[in-house]
Amino acid sequence: GAPVEVNIRKAEPGQLVRVKWRGKPVWVVRRTPDMLEELGEIEGRLRDPNSQEPQQPPYAANQYRSIKEEFFVAVGICTHLGCSPSYLASGMGEHVEGVESGFFCPCHGSKFDVAGRVFQGVPAPLNLVVPPHYFIDDNTILVG
Ligand code: FES
Repeated sequence: GAPVEVNIRKAEPGQLVRVKWRGKPVWVVRRTPDMLEELGEIEGRLRDPNSQEPQQPPYAANQYRSIKEEFFVAVGICTHLGCSPSYLASGMGEHVEGVESGFFCPCHGSKFDVAGRVFQGVPAPLNLVVPPHYFIDDNTILVG
């Protein structure tokens, strides 16, 4: 499949932009400072907080799982059995392990933070997949 350009110039803080890449949903979330701060506070409740498992590019093997902290890029497919998790923006996510924002998979209840890191005690075995991508310029991400 061809690489896909995502224009992020108009993305509002907290907004999730959806595109398709190789038939899969890909998300770009413009994270707020509050969201980024929260990522540093919940490590003890995550299965793989520093993303050491090898299902992603090396630049995502960190707490933010991203090239630029502000922009999180992920394949929007649950790592359990492939459902599409819901995005819970700031303040909506409180039932996701008490965090302000994250992703919730309705199929079997897996929960992920806003870096796609899976919480402990849910069926999904891995963090959400970060696809290969890079910044063409400040307004454009190329996925693929
Ligand atoms: Fe997401 Fe099972 S497919 S929890």
